Amino acid sequence: MERTSQSKTKFYDLSIQERLDQVAQAAGLNADELTALGGINGLTAGQADHMVENVIGVFALPLGIAQNFKVNGREVLVPMAIEEPSVVAGASFMAKLARARGGFYAHTTPPEMIGQMQVLDLGDLPSARLAILEQKDSLLAEAAEIDPVLKKLGGGPRDLEVRAIEESPIGPFLVLHLVYDVRDAMGANAVNTAVERLAGRVEEITGGRVHLKILSNLADRRLARTRCTIPLSELAFGDYPAEDVRDGIIAAWAFAAADPYRAATHNKGIMNGVDAVVIATGNDWRAVEAGAHAYAARSGRYTSLSTWGRAADGSLVGTLEMPMAVGIVGGATRVHPAAKAALKLMGVTQASQLAEIIVSVGLAQNLAALRALATEGIQRGHMSLHARQVAIAAGAQGELVDRLAAQLVEEKTVRIDRAEEILREWSK
Ligand code: MEV
Repeated sequence: MERTSQSKTKFYDLSIQERLDQVAQAAGLNADELTALGGINGLTAGQADHMVENVIGVFALPLGIAQNFKVNGREVLVPMAIEEPSVVAGASFMAKLARARGGFYAHTTPPEMIGQMQVLDLGDLPSARLAILEQKDSLLAEAAEIDPVLKKLGGGPRDLEVRAIEESPIGPFLVLHLVYDVRDAMGANAVNTAVERLAGRVEEITGGRVHLKILSNLADRRLARTRCTIPLSELAFGDYPAEDVRDGIIAAWAFAAADPYRAATHNKGIMNGVDAVVIATGNDWRAVEAGAHAYAARSGRYTSLSTWGRAADGSLVGTLEMPMAVGIVGGATRVHPAAKAALKLMGVTQASQLAEIIVSVGLAQNLAALRALATEGIQRGHMSLHARQVAIAAGAQGELVDRLAAQLVEEKTVRIDRAEEILREWSK
């Protein structure tokens, strides 16, 4: 990130307050937004009480800022809410490597979500299907009037598809898909309202019974895509020659591409980056997770969401494509003060921009994991950060946290029993 790297001290060497001040200055955050991001006051119990039921408090997560991200030529400070060590550092480091070739180039398909209706108790399926399709224009016209706000913003229904499920435990039935452009919303509410409202018409047309009326989280019409290039000059480190690192990353990807057991873990690494930004912006990470994994299995065999290969000039090239149902209006994105400040921090004014940043962080995170796995393994980097958590869990406070963590790493024994033992020895 140019804005902060201009300063002499590295971002991670600053105190929390200094980091916060720097970020606030770079993104023009006001005092309220600063309060929302810093400390544990991002959400009060009173605000939380309006979000879910039976509230007794709030649950905090660490919020880190990923550095060095350039997405479509724009510098961006990326807020990441995550409990796992190494993720923020890994994403930041890989974003730095990608900068040599301009960072990440990302785009999205239109924000079209799918609402499903399950039509049961039909006589002849093919004729019921055609009866619905005959009324497609009038059904779409009716759907267009359901949400006047969305209509004004240029969103609304785009298409209507009907599929016959020939075999199921209850026999054949029809499935109707309402394709709905939700603009800058995540879209669940708009889509669920639309399918519920149209159900009566569908029953009239088919003579059947519309059973389920609900959004599909397999948002395969609302994709986010990104790519990056890492030149060989950025890949060598320690005793590892650049070509070996590149080929090792490609071989690691090939494992995930071919084997679902590995692909699940590989994609989990991608989601480490994706979810952290989705959570920081108050979006529904379960929806994004569900979409990601269903998309990864779309061929019938679960596989990698990303690709890694070798460009003609020998550099490493990566791509990631996945559904990205995130919004910047509605839901927690506008209620949660820290989520609002996080969006402002990224300078995001459209949901598509947010999706482009998120998918780029996912690719960076995937690269961080593969680079480590293909070379020194993940435990070395992981352990020094994990050691801090173990030190805190053992009761260390203040300066003792770092000292104890360093000792645990040195001994190559990052365990709570040993941490407690050392603390006891030191206190004697
Ligand atoms: C750990 O949270 C994520 C990794 O397992 C991802 C991967 O194996 O690619 C390191």
